[in-house]
Amino acid sequence: MCGIVGYIGPKNSVPIILEGLRRLEYRGYDSAGIAIVNNGSFFVEKKAGKVAELAAQLGQTGGSVAGSPGVGHTRWATHGEPSDLNAHPHFDADRGIAVVHNGIIENYAALKIMLERKGCRFASETDTEVLAHLIAGSYRETGDLASAVRLALTEVDGTYGLVVLSARDPDHMVVARKGSPLIIGVGDGENYVASDVSAIVEHTRKVVYLEDGEIAEVSRDGFRTMTIDDVAVEKEVQHVTLELSQIERGGFEHFMLKEIHEQPETIRNAMRGRLLVDEGTVKLGGLQNIMGRLLSARRIIITACGTSWHAGLVGKYMLEQIARVPTEVEYASEFRYRNPIVNIDDVVFLVSQSGETADTLAALREAKSKGATVLGIVNAVGGTIARETDGGVYVHAGPEIGVASTKAFTSQLTVLALITLLLARARGMTMENGQVLARELASLPEKVGEILADTENIKAIAEEFKDKRNFLYLGRGANYPVALEGALKLKEISYIHAEGYPAAEMKHGPIALIDENMPVVVIVPRDAIYDKVISNIQEVRARKGRIIAVANEDDDEIGKLAEFVLRVPRTYGFFGPILNIIPLQLLAYYIAVARGTDVDQPRNLAKSVTVE
Ligand code: G6P
Repeated sequence: MCGIVGYIGPKNSVPIILEGLRRLEYRGYDSAGIAIVNNGSFFVEKKAGKVAELAAQLGQTGGSVAGSPGVGHTRWATHGEPSDLNAHPHFDADRGIAVVHNGIIENYAALKIMLERKGCRFASETDTEVLAHLIAGSYRETGDLASAVRLALTEVDGTYGLVVLSARDPDHMVVARKGSPLIIGVGDGENYVASDVSAIVEHTRKVVYLEDGEIAEVSRDGFRTMTIDDVAVEKEVQHVTLELSQIERGGFEHFMLKEIHEQPETIRNAMRGRLLVDEGTVKLGGLQNIMGRLLSARRIIITACGTSWHAGLVGKYMLEQIARVPTEVEYASEFRYRNPIVNIDDVVFLVSQSGETADTLAALREAKSKGATVLGIVNAVGGTIARETDGGVYVHAGPEIGVASTKAFTSQLTVLALITLLLARARGMTMENGQVLARELASLPEKVGEILADTENIKAIAEEFKDKRNFLYLGRGANYPVALEGALKLKEISYIHAEGYPAAEMKHGPIALIDENMPVVVIVPRDAIYDKVISNIQEVRARKGRIIAVANEDDDEIGKLAEFVLRVPRTYGFFGPILNIIPLQLLAYYIAVARGTDVDQPRNLAKSVTVE
């Protein structure tokens, strides 16, 4: 959610931190701040709003300030409104200790009372500030920053990825992790810390991933890692392959548009080396070791949040209809707290773009504690979910920066289709039928490219409907989740209220909303239930609703019923969602652009939700 970046070394940390914050901003962006150790005290700047506002402020006040170590933070507010005061870093009363923190200190209220009784005065409404006071207290006792952080954290319940600096100790930064990612970037005579590798990848590709319960003392020339109980830990330095171009906009107006247009390639990448068209099957290295358990599973449970949950819903249609495996899908946030009935012969798939979503991670741990096999369908390589699962499949969509998920969704669907085909073949589907499906999958990138080749029609529709206050999205079968996802895209980035509904269910409620002002997007491919959806369209028309249809290229009838038609090539029914969502992503995008919203960083949202 929030982003952290820190630097220790011979260079001035200010530009390094500002650039890092810009790269992290997609994760949380309601306020930002920076603290630099400068001649025995902290130079500090904090600002509500975007990193650009912090940079502008620094331009006025801190133009000549240079120093190291330094740390910066971009925030997504949990405790306390986004304001200059609540922005991180936070300090103890003497401004001797600076803390930036991702996560939530659950017992902060009790700690705050205890600290206030000891005379501490609090400057912000945040939970984080208690850490600064606690650490300052133990620092006075120990005189050693790493020990002080360690001791303070023994009193803390909750989650954290944090960086601590002392104004009196310019030779060290101390970092700690529990439930919120923290990495060390290893340089030559300099080191970096960050919550996400994209913040530092232009400086170093050598990283160390801290595990939960670990602390590191980082200096210019090295680092020392230990557990919170002070047991030394040896860490392996890993090499990340991320390219800078992958996290830059590359000529597109927004990351979201770039990512929408990357989909032919990202879908291809999800299948590369895995889809064996001639054999009509699939090879997935990450599932090989647990194939026996997967095949003997009595049921599959898919759990996820947001867009990833929508992908799971489509996965249910694929897995049940093609592979005939009973499949349940549940929001991770619900699954984790209802003491779910999970057996050792269940397989639980966690679907997550970021691999860090707090509720999905908690669902993983819940399922694991009940003995189920837990598998990940994850985009971000090396994230916590990927590391805690028994196996899984990376979707290989590359970094997704736009807050509204697009390419990760279609890659998740592609991987779910691959898993489905793998299971279907293992459960008796003939090679011939497997080949038909495999060929169809292989043709999808090109078909997505066809949809993306001409977006003029979509821009015109966006212009027509941009001032509407409500939208309804309807679909049936595997396209019902597409309706949900289409509606989610629109509300996320345009702030227009939108609802997705199973088309036939419309008459049990939403039909009351339909009049000549209501745009109704209907996904109506030429499949077995085409006529049923057409009947639903008629019901909307009878009430003067305005139909925007997503329909196949060769559907000559639909033009008579719909005011606007978004054309998609034909494909096998259960793979249809991979194509049908593309025009809806674009529709949401162009409506948002026409309304002038901040497409890549819509208000109140965050890319990676690492709090419950
Ligand atoms: C946030 C993001 C969504 C995403 C959801 C789940 O709400 O804004 O785009 O779908 O989290 O995230 P995950 O990383 O687990 O897929």
